[in-house]
Amino acid sequence: MLSIVNSLSQTRISSVARLFRGHDFSSSCTCLISQKATFYTRSVHSRSQQSESRLAPIGVSAALDARTNSNASGPKIFKEFSLSDRVCIVSGGNRGLGLDMALALCEAGARAVYCLDLPERPGEEWEATRAFVERMKTGVNADKTTRLEYVSVDVTDQEVVWKRAEEVGDKEGRVDVCVAAAGVSSPSIDCLEFPGDKFRKVLDVNTSGVFFTAQAAGRQMRRFGIPGSIVLISSMTGTIMARGHETIPYNTSKGAVNQMTRSMACELGKEGIRVNSISPGYIFTRMVETSGVLQQYPDLIERWSSQNPLGRIGRPDELRGVVTWLASDASTFCTGSDILVTGGHHAW
Ligand SMILES: NC(=O)c1ccc[n+]([C@@H]2O[C@H](COP(=O)([O-])OP(=O)(O)OC[C@H]3O[C@@H](n4cnc5c(N)ncnc54)[C@H](O)[C@@H]3O)[C@@H](O)[C@H]2O)c1
Repeated sequence: MLSIVNSLSQTRISSVARLFRGHDFSSSCTCLISQKATFYTRSVHSRSQQSESRLAPIGVSAALDARTNSNASGPKIFKEFSLSDRVCIVSGGNRGLGLDMALALCEAGARAVYCLDLPERPGEEWEATRAFVERMKTGVNADKTTRLEYVSVDVTDQEVVWKRAEEVGDKEGRVDVCVAAAGVSSPSIDCLEFPGDKFRKVLDVNTSGVFFTAQAAGRQMRRFGIPGSIVLISSMTGTIMARGHETIPYNTSKGAVNQMTRSMACELGKEGIRVNSISPGYIFTRMVETSGVLQQYPDLIERWSSQNPLGRIGRPDELRGVVTWLASDASTFCTGSDILVTGGHHAW
C-alpha cells in the first residue's frame, strides 16, 4: 500500500489528500499521503500561488510553454481585460461617471450591465447609450451581444438594494462585477456651522449607500462562488483636501469609503472577491453643474484646471480604462487599493 502511495504523482497526491481532508483517518498510509501533499504543496506554492489567471499560461510562462507546444496561442493581453459573459451592477448608472463606466463594461464584453439609480425611468442619455449598446457586438470575434439594463432603486435602502441584486442573481445565475458610483455632493458651509441633517444625508448616500451596494453584489458573488470584483467610487477628497471647498460631509464620506475598501478587501480576500476604490479628481458632470458651486465661484473650472500638472479637468470617459482593468482579470492581484485618477492633482 505504502509503495502505491509513494508512486502517486503530485497531482494525484493532491487530489487524494483533498478527498481525505476533514476525515479522521490515522493509518500510516493517510499520514504519508498528508506528508507528501504538504511537501508538494510547499514546493509548488511558490509557483502555483503566484497566478490565478483563468487564461494561464500567460506572459513569460506562455512563451516557455510555446517552446514545446506548437498550438500555443498568440497575444492574450486584451483577453485579460475581457469581461466576456460577466454580469455587472453599477449604481449611479443613469448618468455621469456611472453611465460612462457601465458603457465601458459593455464594450469589454459583459453579458449584461445593470444600472441602479433613483429615477423611476432612466434619462435620455441612458436611453441613447442603451440603443448604442444594442447595436454593439463584442468579444474577440465580435460575435457576442451585450445588454444595458435599468433598475430603479434608492441605494440608501439596504433591504431593497439586496433584493434587487438578488433578482439579478436569480435571472443571470451570476454577479461578477459591482461598481458603486451613486453619490451626492454637499453644500459648501463652514465646518463649525454645518447642520446635522445635511451632514447625515450626504453620509447616508455616499457611505452607507456605497456599502449597501457592495454588500448586495458581494452576497451574490458569495452565493454563486464567484471571485468577483467590487469597485467603490471614492474621490481624491477622501485622501487630500480640495482647496477652497468647505464640504466636510463629502470629504468625510469619501474617507470612509477608502477605509471601507481596505476593510472589505481584507474580509473577502479569502473568497477571491477583490475590493478596490477609484478616487477621481475634478471631472465635469451634472454633479458639478447642479451643485451650485459654479454660481458661487464663476472662475471655478479655470481654478480647478490650474491645480494639476495636466492643466485641465477630467472627462467622464477618462475612467473607462481603470474601471475595466479593476473589473477584469487584468488586475487579479490588486485588492484593498485606492487608485487616484486626478490629472496629478494629488501629486502637487
Ligand atoms: N464629478 C467629479 O468631479 C467627481 C470627482 C470625484 C468623485 N466623484 C464621484 O463619482 C460618483 C459619480 O458622480 P458624478 O460626477 O457622475 O455625479 P452625477 O450626479 O452625475 O451622478 C450621480 C448619480 O448617483 C445617483 N444617485 C444619487 N443618490 C442616489 C441614491 N440614493 N440611490 C441611487 N442613486 C443615487 C444620481 O441620481 C446620479 O445619477 C459619485 O460618487 C461622486 O462622488 C465625482
